[in-house]
Amino acid sequence: MGRFPKVVRCVLNEVDEMRKIYLDYAATTPVDPRVLKAMKPYFSEDFGNASSLYSMGQQARLAMENSRKRIAKIINSEPEEIVFTSGGTESDNLALVGVAMANKKKGNHIITSKIEHKAVMETCEFLEKQGFQITYLDVDKYGIIDLEQLKKSIKKETILVSVMHANNEIGTLEPIEEVGKICREKDIYFHTDAVQSFCKIPIDVKKMKIDMLSASSHKIYGPKGVGLLYVRTGVKIEPLLHGGGHESGRRSGTENVAGIVGFAKACEIANKGMTKEAKRLSRMRNKLVKGLLKVPNSYINGHPEKRLPGNTNFRFDFIEGEALILKLDIVGIEASTGSACSSKDLKASHVLISIGLSPKQAHGSLRITMGRYTKEKDIDYVLKNVPEVVSELREISPFKGKW
Ligand SMILES: Cc1ncc(COP(=O)(O)O)c(C=O)c1O
Repeated sequence: MGRFPKVVRCVLNEVDEMRKIYLDYAATTPVDPRVLKAMKPYFSEDFGNASSLYSMGQQARLAMENSRKRIAKIINSEPEEIVFTSGGTESDNLALVGVAMANKKKGNHIITSKIEHKAVMETCEFLEKQGFQITYLDVDKYGIIDLEQLKKSIKKETILVSVMHANNEIGTLEPIEEVGKICREKDIYFHTDAVQSFCKIPIDVKKMKIDMLSASSHKIYGPKGVGLLYVRTGVKIEPLLHGGGHESGRRSGTENVAGIVGFAKACEIANKGMTKEAKRLSRMRNKLVKGLLKVPNSYINGHPEKRLPGNTNFRFDFIEGEALILKLDIVGIEASTGSACSSKDLKASHVLISIGLSPKQAHGSLRITMGRYTKEKDIDYVLKNVPEVVSELREISPFKGKW
């Protein structure tokens, strides 16, 4: 605070004291104190390199392998099928580029959807520049892919299908079990970006016929900078990072032991309370939707039921989402207009455009995502404040009730 002039410090102090309601859990989550406690010894007491042969190194390896086993159990995979990475972005890159590089003799065609996270979209664009062909599947008004279009898009050169489990902006769930079945029948690899759904809704990689799955620790009350890629035994994949051959040669780099231990703890906590928490969040989500749809010219983005328990995404016509976010911040509500990573560039969200919104409609959207520390009274506060703020903004809006 010392770096700010006195007058600004006073304002910031007032802001500090004001009630803050964090409702951007899809962007990131705070580290659970139990996770922090589990991680702590691996920073300065048991700090050994997991590749070292002496006992402190072996202790670190043991902690890491134990974490791998515990995470594998949650998604019904084998421990050796889990590759630890630096997060969801790296996992998506490893899945797409790794499979493309290892299987280019078999074919150069990849299928994905139009609403993937940028970690998949931009990787596909990179692969296009390397000579791969990408088919981007359309989605309906709820954000769901068309399985018939998927079947028709498959050709003999197709090596990979990548369809996300839950969308990070609108929360819509994709029919990944059906996608897995189609891909397995055609002998094509299936990758799913499960960064938003992992440990929030059940995942069984065997039952869902998933060949690769990306997950990230910081979305589930674990530390930032750690994630995983599940790679089914037998999938041919080239590493992105070359070096000491860590993670069975699939991802070189000294392992982030504390992060991995924290990730495993976060997974266990979330998995244990999953059903109860999903019910609690769905109840609050439904209350929020019911309340905010009373605002004139407001709509819900995404599917009404097939969506993540803690995700809501609204569209308020005739206002700009960025102005709404800033005004809500003044009353202590922290929410978002789009995905965490793209909310800085003010381009209309590719997800909202793909579900059929005009750029103006897309700009008037608000994502409210709830999580472990969200209380019923926070929802009441939102239900009181959002309609007021929307109405104030509409009064000064240049659109004056029509686009
Ligand atoms: C669906 C999805 N995929 C990938 C990512 C990237 O994950 P990370 O922040 O761990 O790199 C995110 C993050 O917002 C996401 O929501």
